[in-house]
Amino acid sequence: MENNRIIIAIDGYSSTGKSSFAKLIASRLGYIYVDTGALYRAITYFAHNCGFIDNKCRIKEDWLRKTINNVSVTFKQTGEGGKSETYLNDANVEKHIRSMEVSNKVSHVSALPFVREYVDGILHRLGEKKGVVMDGRDIGTAVFPNAELKLFMTAAINVRAERRFKELQAKGAKETFEEVLKNLEERDYIDEHRETAPLAKAEDAILLDNSYMTMEEQCAWLGGILKEKFDIDF
Ligand code: DC
Repeated sequence: MENNRIIIAIDGYSSTGKSSFAKLIASRLGYIYVDTGALYRAITYFAHNCGFIDNKCRIKEDWLRKTINNVSVTFKQTGEGGKSETYLNDANVEKHIRSMEVSNKVSHVSALPFVREYVDGILHRLGEKKGVVMDGRDIGTAVFPNAELKLFMTAAINVRAERRFKELQAKGAKETFEEVLKNLEERDYIDEHRETAPLAKAEDAILLDNSYMTMEEQCAWLGGILKEKFDIDF
């Protein structure tokens, strides 16, 4: 339905399956999928490589501010089931940006207002023509407050940590369950308490707690909303 293409903003806590759900929605609707967390992760990786952030997460803000315009983040389809990978200045950084090293630092970097401003500029350009599904923390509250459909995803912390732990294990990572849980709790805290665009449910966002829902159940739930509110077949 070309004439009723909308913006779907999906916000919520880490490891609630936002990106898997958003990717699936985009592919079924023929929309663009934008992983906004990957932008923050790529900038964090850049800062880390340049020596602008140390292991205590102290950031050389002036250096990052001066060089952030040199950061070009793009996404390329890999062909496998619509999977897209993140490129930083033409280098594939997909694996690096998902590491615990970056996960531990990203909430600090993404709390900086000039970093958010830079990412917002990119997101506004990507959303100009609508027909996008974006997942993040502030899409429905700050980036696209007029998005036609806003979802806010949550799940029990132990369920989220278990999902993330299994994902990391499958990739051969060595972190313990407790380390993964701690990282999630820390990120939740920083994301919710930062001054600029903190993680929060927009008043008009629809809450989705998927602690005990399968992907099919989530799709069926969303299909009902898309049909009823927008006459979109899903
Ligand atoms: O979605 P993710 O876990 O890959 O996001 C990584 C971090 O980036 C997250 O801890 C907070 C930040 N982020 C943000 O501040 N705003 C967004 N729209 C997306 C992510």
